Amino acid sequence: MPRLALFASGNGSNAQRITEYFAGHPAISVNLILCNKPGAYVLHRAKTLGIPTCVFDRHSFYETGEIPDLLKKYRIDYLVLAGFLWLIPHNVLDAYPAKIINIHPALLPKFGGKGMYGMKVHEAVIASGDAESGITIHYVNEQYDEGSIIFQARCPLAAGDTPEMLAEKVHALEYRYFAEVIEGIVTNDK
Ligand code: GRF
Repeated sequence: MPRLALFASGNGSNAQRITEYFAGHPAISVNLILCNKPGAYVLHRAKTLGIPTCVFDRHSFYETGEIPDLLKKYRIDYLVLAGFLWLIPHNVLDAYPAKIINIHPALLPKFGGKGMYGMKVHEAVIASGDAESGITIHYVNEQYDEGSIIFQARCPLAAGDTPEMLAEKVHALEYRYFAEVIEGIVTNDK
């Protein structure tokens, strides 16, 4: 049975949605939530959901083998990044080739790359004058937001939309599609 670990740094609403989607799923389970920010709300959510957590810092992530060791200990098969902002180091990429999935809150390849996260993405989309935005689910490689694209969904931008209004539309797409797309990837990978 494929086992997922979720990486999240902040609020964790996607992490919660994914965990709830797979609770009681016959073939896929969420077994660990990893976070680089002590005190992040996602840790509170994980506790309520009954999922074990690991909080790590830059040193353990980039200069030790602690995270791959932990993922091995939990027999994790796939990594899902849901609001996680750090680049994935080589020892983790090598241990999970084509098994790390990220969600980006815009239509890549536009509006991606270092520093493009959270409200900054939505502000940039609105400033561009584009008529639509959306979500991109993609594999993770050693560059920010550059791995191959698996799935996109779109939402229209209305005149007068604020970044907050756009964020809400994008979140709705994330909740609607992310878990299902993960399910599809894992199921078809077998
Ligand atoms: C989402 O919009 C996701 O696309 C982006 O970060 C946000 C995380 O939101 N990578 P949450 O923490 O899941 O509420």
